[in-house]
Amino acid sequence: MVKPSHVPLRAARTCIAALSLLVVAPGCRQFPETAVTNDLEARGRDIFRDDTFGDERFWTDTARLHELVAREIEPLEALGLGVKVDMDRLNLLKFVAHNPFGTGGTKELLRQGAVVGMRGTFDESGNLVKVGITCALCHSTVDNALLPGIGHRLDGWPNRDLEVGKILSKLPIFTPQQKAVLASWPPGYYDPRFNFDGKSTPLTLPPAHGLAQVKNETYTAEGPISYWNAYVAVTQMHGHGSFSDPRLGINIVQTPDDVTPKLAALRAYQHSIPAPPTPGASYDRGAADRGKRVFDANCASCHVGGSLTDNNDGVLHAPSETGMDSAYAARTTQKRYRTTPLRALWQHAPYFHDGSAKTLEDVVDHYVQVRRFQLSRGERRDLVEYLKSL
Ligand code: HEC
Ligand code: HEC
Repeated sequence: MVKPSHVPLRAARTCIAALSLLVVAPGCRQFPETAVTNDLEARGRDIFRDDTFGDERFWTDTARLHELVAREIEPLEALGLGVKVDMDRLNLLKFVAHNPFGTGGTKELLRQGAVVGMRGTFDESGNLVKVGITCALCHSTVDNALLPGIGHRLDGWPNRDLEVGKILSKLPIFTPQQKAVLASWPPGYYDPRFNFDGKSTPLTLPPAHGLAQVKNETYTAEGPISYWNAYVAVTQMHGHGSFSDPRLGINIVQTPDDVTPKLAALRAYQHSIPAPPTPGASYDRGAADRGKRVFDANCASCHVGGSLTDNNDGVLHAPSETGMDSAYAARTTQKRYRTTPLRALWQHAPYFHDGSAKTLEDVVDHYVQVRRFQLSRGERRDLVEYLKSL
């Protein structure tokens, strides 16, 4: 059952919003859906959104996530945990008929395939018998066109509301110590190595758009996109596939391999997702033009080229070079950080791998301090406007 005390308030708000639906038409799309131009990309989109790679075996048989969902998670609580609902798959009348304030409503959302990044399978009597997760869970959100948390799907936008750790901490597979660690991760964070080394330095969920010209993925440039996609699908989502990396001492071989044959399509789709453009009115163009000059003089030694990263030339940076915490890097194969390709910064605060900069102003202040840049107040402000424009 739902515990938080503020739920009645939320419930009231939702009631009012639901009533208003009777008179107000659903909001329109602010950002166009990613246009797929060929079959491979279209297949990749289906995989990105809906493919569990057979990970139900883990999330259902081992982790019992389906029981948690069926017994405890009501739609409002799911939204409160940052789970998103795709209004283009939502049959509102059917949803309302299945008790939107009870677990029946959650099951109905799953039955409609409307829960972003989560798939449910039902038996003939309507029991939820399997659940699995997809890439979209962490790497998609919605535009809230209908209600907060319910809208048109935005592929590749990180879900910075998603309480991954809190959700995981409710599962019976973890020890009390592990549950305490998981529950401590803030919304929008996840640690993709916790299940291997038991350490916890959670990362902000990164955007998975604007990557077409980026050579190596992840904050530490672990490898090209398909390397990382396979790592996540097999070792984090627990999909039924194979992944090996002698550097990490991981050698998982499963047949049939439900991951490897899908990597080409997945990559094609990811590469087709552009970074969303900055809404025109949200920054000062004159200041941004001046800010570009500040950027070129101070930042472009590392943020270089079309994707604004020197990692396309193979460069990595010791944590101290940019004043970063070294704890996460130390757990990776590269031990150093990749200059993050800068795109759609307006859209995914907080910044840096650990979210240590809450705003773009914080980013600039951080660099001024660590790299001893001599920037006037005006230059800092211009630089922030430029960053907003990227
Ligand atoms: C539980 C949340 C979660 C799920 C599910 C997930 N990811 Fe990620 N993803 C992350 C986190 C956290 C990182 C950052 C890892 C790092 O940089 O070390 C990441 C990084 C990435 C990156 C690198 C982005 C960049 O800037 O280089 C790509 C690409 C990516 N994921 C794709 C996928 C794909 C494809 C799937 C499905 C097979 C997937 N992810 C599933 C959490 C998730
Ligand atoms: C010495 C190389 C270097 C210089 C100089 C540099 N950066 Fe960075 N930048 C990095 C690295 C490395 C990261 C990744 C840090 C992390 O997340 O651990 C990064 C990350 C960022 C991010 C975070 C992006 C995100 O999506 O989270 C922003 C914003 C940024 N830099 C802006 C700037 C600005 C503005 C300047 C100039 C004032 C600058 N950088 C100068 C190397 C550099």
